Amino acid sequence: MTPPPYPLKTLLGGLGPERFLAEYWQKKPLLVRQAIPGFQGLLGRDALFDLACRDDAESRLVRSGRGRWSLDHGPFEPEDLAALPKRGWSLLVQGVNHFLPAADQLLHSFSFAPHARLDDLMVSFAPDGGGVGPHFDSYDVFLIQGLGRRRWEIGAQADLDLVEGAPLRILKRFEIEQSWELEPGDMLYLPPKYAHNGIALGDCMTYSVGFRAPSSQEIATQFLVYLQDRLQLEGRYADPKLKRPRHPAEIGADMLEQVESMIAKIRWKRADIVDFVGRYLSEPKAHVFFDPPARPLGRAAFVKQAAKRGLRLDPRTLLLFKGSSFFLNGETLRAAPETAPRLRELADLRQIGPTALPDGLADILYEWYRLGYLHPQPSP
Ligand code: SIN
Ligand code: CO
Repeated sequence: MTPPPYPLKTLLGGLGPERFLAEYWQKKPLLVRQAIPGFQGLLGRDALFDLACRDDAESRLVRSGRGRWSLDHGPFEPEDLAALPKRGWSLLVQGVNHFLPAADQLLHSFSFAPHARLDDLMVSFAPDGGGVGPHFDSYDVFLIQGLGRRRWEIGAQADLDLVEGAPLRILKRFEIEQSWELEPGDMLYLPPKYAHNGIALGDCMTYSVGFRAPSSQEIATQFLVYLQDRLQLEGRYADPKLKRPRHPAEIGADMLEQVESMIAKIRWKRADIVDFVGRYLSEPKAHVFFDPPARPLGRAAFVKQAAKRGLRLDPRTLLLFKGSSFFLNGETLRAAPETAPRLRELADLRQIGPTALPDGLADILYEWYRLGYLHPQPSP
């Protein structure tokens, strides 16, 4: 198996990231043979099944046969997975990057896009003939072949009508324009809304690097929630010039005007947008929990470990920044000017090499360590 990191140039088939972004990203598919030479996957079928039985992982089981589809959500019981038939199903686990540091590294090999755009690494297993049917996704996706082989059929159709009443999104009509058989280490990039269908050729595992593109509705709703928690408006409804109304039940024009001007006092600045975006995009998903160390090192021992081995973010941690404001798992931290450059390095690379930690930085990182947000690098 090829260990991470995966060089970007090879991943993108010899294209530089600038050229990939200009010519393919969100525009057209790209097939890369041997994007990860020698890749056999990061976990086996049994390890994936174990993840599908955990309640802190999101998993799905898709079954198909005679043109009918069914969908079940995990966590599953090990006996149920062991009893699956030889054919006609696919098991999918989202967020595998939260459980395996190597999967986190694979996901972050795609850091030619901002970290805030990376969603997760999904891994699927299907026996011969299995798959999730012809469909389209609303997001960009890189489909990397792990174990076995898969045939990918794709089409640029505008007709995105879905089968009504099906428990998952299956295209009513699928027009295949191109198809390829992917071998371990091959990769297919698809822009959003590109129709595709992956059929396992024998036992097959596929690694999908997914991206995050929240809808305007979602952003606006979340921003209103953010604003509501911080809103401080002065004043109260008042009507010292009240005239007796002709219809007491009628909502008068003065009343509407006053309410409208109260609402018009809701204002925000660019700094509020920065803080909202940082918190919102670094907020862990609902099922994600951190494990603080059971027997934490004392501060001095932690600093010693950092000097000896370096530190790495927990695979579940999301760390973003804007200037000297850092957003860690939904919280904001304003860093001192001397601390910010090292924190930016940690955010970009998700690790820092063996280093002496100045006091201010050690305080911050030790606190994050105690919360389970980062760890000393394991011994080699
Ligand atoms: C799969 O791994 O079977 C599904 C990936 C996809 O079509 O997006
Ligand atoms: Co898809």
